[in-house]
Amino acid sequence: MKKSFCILGLLFVSLLANAASVKSPNGNIELTFSVDEDGRPVYEMSYKGRPVVLPSHLGLELARDKHASLGMQERDLMDGFKLVKEETSTFDETWRPVWGETATIRNHYNEYVATLSQQWRETMPSKAGEPRLQPRQRNRQMMIRFRVYDDGIGFRYEFPQQQDLNYFLIKEEHSEFAMAGDHTAWWLPGDYDTQEQETQETKLSEIRGRMKEAVNWTNSSVAVFSETGVQTSLQMKSSDGLYINIHEAACADYATMHLELVDAETKALSTQLGGGSNAYTPNPMSCEYPLPKPFTFVSHLTPDATGLKGAMQTPCETPWRTVMVSDDARDMLSSNLILNLNEPCALEDVSWIHPTKYCGVWWEMIVGKSNWHYTDEYPSIKLDQIDWKSVKPHGRHAANNEKVKRYIDFAAKNGLDEVLVEGWNVGWEDWANMWKRDVFDFVTPYPDFDIEMLNNYAHSKGVKLLMHHETSSSTQNYERHMEAAFNLMNKYGYDAVKTGYVGDIIPRGDHHYSQSMNNHYLYVVKEAAKHHIMVNAHEATRPTGLCRTYPNLVGNESARGTEYEAFGGSRPDHTCILPFTRLQGGPMDYTPGIFVTKLKEWSDNTSWARITIAGSLALYLTMYSPLQMAADLPEHYERFDDAFQFIRDVACDWDDSRYLEAEPADYITVARKAKGTDNWFIGGKCDENGHTAVVKLDFLDKGRKYDCTIYADAKDAHYETNPQAYVITKKVVKAGQTLKINEAPGGGFAVSLIAK
Ligand code: NOJ
Ligand code: CA
Repeated sequence: MKKSFCILGLLFVSLLANAASVKSPNGNIELTFSVDEDGRPVYEMSYKGRPVVLPSHLGLELARDKHASLGMQERDLMDGFKLVKEETSTFDETWRPVWGETATIRNHYNEYVATLSQQWRETMPSKAGEPRLQPRQRNRQMMIRFRVYDDGIGFRYEFPQQQDLNYFLIKEEHSEFAMAGDHTAWWLPGDYDTQEQETQETKLSEIRGRMKEAVNWTNSSVAVFSETGVQTSLQMKSSDGLYINIHEAACADYATMHLELVDAETKALSTQLGGGSNAYTPNPMSCEYPLPKPFTFVSHLTPDATGLKGAMQTPCETPWRTVMVSDDARDMLSSNLILNLNEPCALEDVSWIHPTKYCGVWWEMIVGKSNWHYTDEYPSIKLDQIDWKSVKPHGRHAANNEKVKRYIDFAAKNGLDEVLVEGWNVGWEDWANMWKRDVFDFVTPYPDFDIEMLNNYAHSKGVKLLMHHETSSSTQNYERHMEAAFNLMNKYGYDAVKTGYVGDIIPRGDHHYSQSMNNHYLYVVKEAAKHHIMVNAHEATRPTGLCRTYPNLVGNESARGTEYEAFGGSRPDHTCILPFTRLQGGPMDYTPGIFVTKLKEWSDNTSWARITIAGSLALYLTMYSPLQMAADLPEHYERFDDAFQFIRDVACDWDDSRYLEAEPADYITVARKAKGTDNWFIGGKCDENGHTAVVKLDFLDKGRKYDCTIYADAKDAHYETNPQAYVITKKVVKAGQTLKINEAPGGGFAVSLIAK
């Protein structure tokens, strides 16, 4: 591993009159920093001489909190700064992720740190009848740290411990990202509680007009805050072909960031909603600072139940704010900027963390054919007042011994590692949206789920069960039961849990992406690690690369997953966007693999998945995750056993990955080398227009032959009219050859290359 860290002088930093400029190691990206005449920090960024971020202010507005009269901070960290120190350095290290798209990752950047000082004489107003307090000199320090990579920049605010800045409350962070034009953007409505929406593709100037129709108000928890607020990771493309992505890295003990666009109609930035869900009542914010120019995004943090956005204690820092840029869309997908900005692995022993392929008692419940709950006998459930053994079952409970054994047999036969079972534990009768605190205990199985027998049965066949903890967003309830729940998992040999946060957060008024909730999600991951448990959290906040530090965080949902194919369906281009956006921060448990796409063929559900079978196979490559589900029913895979062979064969951990073709919302083609082998797998996924992939096999070992199996859409395949038409071709190939593969509308392809 190469590592270097040294202070550099004028080598890459030029200190202009009152501005410093730092270049990326290859010189393509330039970052400039200065402090303007009002003492406000300003940065700008360019790529190959083209503007990416125009001059943009940085700062934080603090809350005038009730303790201000006791001497707590209230002056904003927005202006009045002097630049008192500048430090520069370079860093170059190569590290090995526990799991990932490549065996090693290079972390190479040039760094610039500005230390800013804010000094003023504070006069405390006297209250009637009380002696006036003496004015006092205040002196606060804030640092802004920039890291300039070849594929983008990261910056964060740092607050050293100091006499005049110990505790402070954040009203809003005002990090600006001034865009240089009316870019095309792939965006989700900014929302404090859900990311499970379809991505919108519009010009920046069209966001406001599209906002209301972009929101699916039927999601179980929706809190949209502004007519121009969007989520990160936000992917954009400029009219002259620059790909720009804004996100964040290492969001810990801090609220998740949204972006509010200032457009021609903006009168004021929005403030938080007054709690509640399914709300849409943006209010003007009492921000005293001038509005930035149109096409500027301004950070907008998620509030907690009090409306505040952060309670900080120095020393502390914010998450990194990231801007990735390239003139080649493939670089957006291969970038490791977000992971690199996270801290190295905090776990000493990682031997128990492993990539996992799984199936589950799941899809048939999502589709509505069977149920999570066990009985219809009671109008409501008090967990401690029911004798479950004497309860009358309704007969549609999916997590029963017989069915779970069937899934275990299927997993064992097909080399799948684990079987997820949802609805195994009592409480599902009235679990969602009831503001019910004591909703689950996470340890009591329904009478028809023999936890000991089923785990023994699974282990005897070399398979594990995958635990499910739906918290119903009752977070304190989960924290109270978690230790017992993890002990139960250890007792029976579970090593992974899927958690869930459906519905509004309890304690009421809090939001899914607030500082307190982000602390909860990380607490779960850390506690799970003590029990050697891997975590896959659904409905939790969008990932920001924390899986580098805690690699037992093997998955998140945090976007619209395959379940929506049973709730009306997602557009065919959905999976050609997610790798550019949601996947930037970490893997997604997308749960691919639906072969019988017209659900009415086997249920009363009239929804249908907008994908072909070959397209479904491609997702195991294009949607990178160390946790991959084969989501459809065993009997459906048995019907298409020759296509299922690809899911049996495909790896989910990689030594190398090459993005061969990419364009947001159009197509993605990637080749990956399976960990510890010489075998390669290739996946290509396209939108509703179809695509012809041209795959040059120049990454194969020269002189070596490979058994090549191509799973392609048939000529007449189509995601709507003919989704199950595929052709499997086998041949022997070698390096230097080219594969030309037809992808049907809404389709794709998958290839396995087994070294001979
Ligand atoms: C929503 C999750 O995304 C889904 O996978 C799960 O089955 C349900 N919640 C129930 O927990
Ligand atoms: Ca979900």
